[in-house]
Parts: sequence; C-alpha cells; structure tokens
Amino acid sequence: MENLHQLKQLQKLYRYRALEIAYFDEPKEVKMSDTPAMRLPNQMDALRKMVFSCSLCGLSKSRKNVVFGEGNESAQIMFVGEGPGAVEDQTGRPFVGKSGQLLTKIIETTLECKREDVYIANIVKCRPPLNRAPDREEAQSCLPFLLRQIEMVDPQMIITLGATAYQYLTGDFERGISKIRGEVMHFGERLLVPTFHPSFLLRNPSAKRYVFNDMKKIKALLS
Ligand code: URA
Repeated sequence: MENLHQLKQLQKLYRYRALEIAYFDEPKEVKMSDTPAMRLPNQMDALRKMVFSCSLCGLSKSRKNVVFGEGNESAQIMFVGEGPGAVEDQTGRPFVGKSGQLLTKIIETTLECKREDVYIANIVKCRPPLNRAPDREEAQSCLPFLLRQIEMVDPQMIITLGATAYQYLTGDFERGISKIRGEVMHFGERLLVPTFHPSFLLRNPSAKRYVFNDMKKIKALLS
C-alpha cells in the first residue's frame, strides 16, 4: 500500500517536472501526523479556542492578541502572510494596517471580489517583536495550526506573501522571492503562487505591476 502511494507520488512529481512546475509536499518537519501529542481539532472554532490559549513559543509572552486568521472558511483562495504587525496585534485581525489596506485593494481590483470572500492568515499568529521575521522555532510551533486551517478551508489556491511565508510554508529556502514570484506550484493537492508582500510594495511601488500580473494570472487560473 505504502509502495503504491510512493509510486503515485513519484509519477506526479515526474509529471510536474515535465511541466516545469515545482511541487512541495506538506513541510516534513511539521507534519501533523508526526506530532501525535498535538491533537488539533477539526472545527475552526475549536482550533481558534486552542490557539487563543497557545504558549508554545516565546511570541505568546509579548502578544496583545492572537491573530488567528479570518475570512470565508470555504474560500477558493487563501492568502498567507508572515506574521501580525502592530495594528494586527492590537486588533486581533490579519492585514488591517497599511499593508493590509493595500492587500484589500489588490484583492478587490485584481481578483474582483471582496476581502471577505478570501481567507487570510499568517505563518505565525502572534506578533514578533519589532516586526522582525519569525524564527524557525516560532514558525514550526505555529505551522501545524496553519496547516489545519488550510485543510479546513480547503482552498484551491494559496498565495504566499513575501519570502518568509513562502519559505516556511514550502520548506524551500533556496530560491529568492524575486526569482520564483508568479510561479504556479503544487502544494499537495493545491496550487500555490508566491508573490511579493504588500509591505514591500509600499516601499517599492514600481513592483506593484508584478503583483497585479500575478493576481490576474491567478484569476484566470481559477475562472
Ligand atoms: N504583515 C503580515 O505579514 N501579516 C499581517 O497580518 C500584517 C502585516
């Protein structure tokens, strides 16, 4: 049975390679099946409750609020950012500061849907101090929650925002975001497209056109 599964996986990988599509499985280091002690609920409310009382990493000590994620729990598209900033920490909601406003605008203008129609989450659910990127231990403690959210929302498409979200979700630390941005990849059964983080766009407005192109590609893929 295991051999048959491996053979099928191998066939899939060869097919993706022939199509020049990168393939990532669930990150090995955080596979939920490898952490039997961590029984994660199958219901969003129960998972939210569990995450609200999480103290698995040091970020829990400095957070004001857990930023669990929000949106349509049956969304076709799920955005994954890096981690909450100051406004998100204050409000308990993802992407509501300046970069969040830009993300909302991008969603509305390019995907032609409302922010409420997609699901938005982050690699870590508590704010890293001084807006630094989450470290490996923080990301790995939090990733099982995100993976369970992905399973429950069951989106066709995951859009990672910025290098950190892409790297921790796929485990690919080799290729730079400028190189892989806009590539359509397979993440298990889903599609995954990395693009620039909106905070990068606030600093580099001329890069907006790349993200707009990525989003148009995504829209065309899904329609
Ligand atoms: N940046 C992120 O990566 N996530 C947020 O929720 C806000 C800013």
